[in-house]
Amino acid sequence: MPRHADPDQTRHRRRGRGTIVGTHIPVMPRQVVEVLRPQDAKVVVDCTIGYGGHALSILRLMPQDAVFIGLDVDGPQLQRTAERLKGLGKDVRLHRCNFSQLPEILAKEGLDKVDVIFADLGASSMQIDDPKRGFSYKHPDSPLDMRMDDRLGTTAADLLLNLSEEELDRALWELADEPDHQRIAQFIVAQRAVKPITTTSELIRLIFAAKGTSQKAWLKKKTYHDPHPAALTFQALRIMVNNELENLRRLLDIAPGLLNSGGRIAIISFQRGEDMIVRTAFRAGLEQGIYKAICPKAIRPTINEIRSNPRSSSGRLRWAIRA
Ligand SMILES: C[S@@+](CC[C@H](N)C(=O)[O-])C[C@H]1O[C@@H](n2cnc3c(N)ncnc32)[C@H](O)[C@@H]1O
Repeated sequence: MPRHADPDQTRHRRRGRGTIVGTHIPVMPRQVVEVLRPQDAKVVVDCTIGYGGHALSILRLMPQDAVFIGLDVDGPQLQRTAERLKGLGKDVRLHRCNFSQLPEILAKEGLDKVDVIFADLGASSMQIDDPKRGFSYKHPDSPLDMRMDDRLGTTAADLLLNLSEEELDRALWELADEPDHQRIAQFIVAQRAVKPITTTSELIRLIFAAKGTSQKAWLKKKTYHDPHPAALTFQALRIMVNNELENLRRLLDIAPGLLNSGGRIAIISFQRGEDMIVRTAFRAGLEQGIYKAICPKAIRPTINEIRSNPRSSSGRLRWAIRA
């Protein structure tokens, strides 16, 4: 797999061996609680609660009187997770919102500072495995939606219709390192002049054509580890649709102002661009005295975890402690 292959797609590749459809296996849950020390916290924020896997590990360790704030942009998913976390006897407060709005949520809750901020980036297995949502090249004829938050106005199909060739070209290169960025952008613009690209199958066919091959020919010669030729284009579109890098930068900007002294932040990313943003922000924070300690290098899943949950393989966990 090339270094920049779509991490989320990678996480969801071997469905048979790992995640049961409709669920999500948390990545590095043991390392997350070791780093965050929820047993010492009074207020914990999980910015990306998803299916609640990390939340359960954190809640089990949190003191009885501590407050747990869980955020997610995905309304229906959040409802399911709320059911899952019921009955734990802990103070769990869930909000459907973007983590970039964390200061407003804390103000609503009457909270000033927190002890723990955690984010597990990207889409969940439930989102990727849902054929109605168009996240995966594995689902033929799905609508090219890709919104984690269905209140957002722009879908992947809208971007394919409205971005200029230059914007598409740049996004494919900068957000996914797609080697055939220029040709794919050219093919998209030529195809949409005839008919808008609205389904996963249409986009996949176009990508194969831009790469000068066909799905049939590729299937014949591919090895188990070869990434799907459409993976990088799907990755770039998903990042754009959900403003993922902007949201992450905003979270990293606001986090120091929300953490108590000694408070801990940890972020799991699955893609090179995100990890660079986290690493740069934590290093700058350490140099400026905002953080008193940061992880010397990213924590990676163990071989055993990757064996039992291959989707974890591209995960990188980074942490910092507020000065
Ligand atoms: C990888 S999943 C988290 C899985 C979770 N840690 C678990 O153990 O089940 C990421 C989740 O974050 C949500 N998400 C992504 N970006 C977000 C943002 N900017 N604000 C809030 N939620 C976001 C997605 O909807 C998705 O449910």
